[in-house]
Amino acid sequence: MSEQLTIALSKGRILEETLPLLAGAGIEPEEDPEKSRKLVFETTVPGVRLLIIRATDVPTYVQYGGADMGVAGKDVLMEHGGDGLYEPLDLAIARCRLMTAGVAGQAVPEGRVRVATKFTRLAREYYAAQGKQADIIKLYGAMELAPLLGLADEIVDIVDTGNTLKANGLEPRETIADISSRVVVSRASMKMKHARIQPILDRMGEAVARRQ
Ligand code: ADP
Ligand code: PRP
Ligand code: MG
Repeated sequence: MSEQLTIALSKGRILEETLPLLAGAGIEPEEDPEKSRKLVFETTVPGVRLLIIRATDVPTYVQYGGADMGVAGKDVLMEHGGDGLYEPLDLAIARCRLMTAGVAGQAVPEGRVRVATKFTRLAREYYAAQGKQADIIKLYGAMELAPLLGLADEIVDIVDTGNTLKANGLEPRETIADISSRVVVSRASMKMKHARIQPILDRMGEAVARRQ
């Protein structure tokens, strides 16, 4: 029997763009994950299965051995910290920026700045590096509301077109990082299942290059 290999994928916008790249490596789910309530999918390759989970849980599953490898946004990987993970391949999908933003035309306060975000670790590091005192408020979504309702002076969030900021009276300020989705592999699996994993990375890399 061939060795099991488990790949964790983020549900949502990344999934749609990841499946064609995996197909480029010959791996296709037996059932359409977007039309099923299942969380685990067998694939066209014996022994290879896919987990479809929350984007923020992907590095955690891979770190603790629940999956051998996975796909997640660089924002999620930076916020996780990357313990126990290799990041061998940039898929160049779901490109966006991690930015600060605030109410259009409103200056940042001189002293402490209140920052609402789901990226608390990255925000803390960013404002510390700027030499700014920041009080970080953890939110799980709709960060764009916080400055409007007086919860925060700034937010740290994902910006792509800028439409969400604009529609809520906010302006983009500083870019903290350019973001795209990456393949991560657990350090343990890279060692133990290298012969299985490396050809998948090579073929996905070729599929990425064909798209550029
Ligand atoms: P979540 O429910 O965690 O927000 P998403 O599917 O919206 O999951 O986002 C997954 C990843 O896609 C993020 O971690 C980020 O890397 C990227 N991303 C998020 N929003 C956008 C966007 N508007 N445009 C492009 N990429 C995005
Ligand atoms: C993401 C992100 C921003 C928006 C940015 O939200 O959190 O709100 O996209 O994109 P834009 O600059 O093109 O407007 P998403 O659509 O993923 O909603 P979510 O709150 O469910 O994550
Ligand atoms: Mg989102």
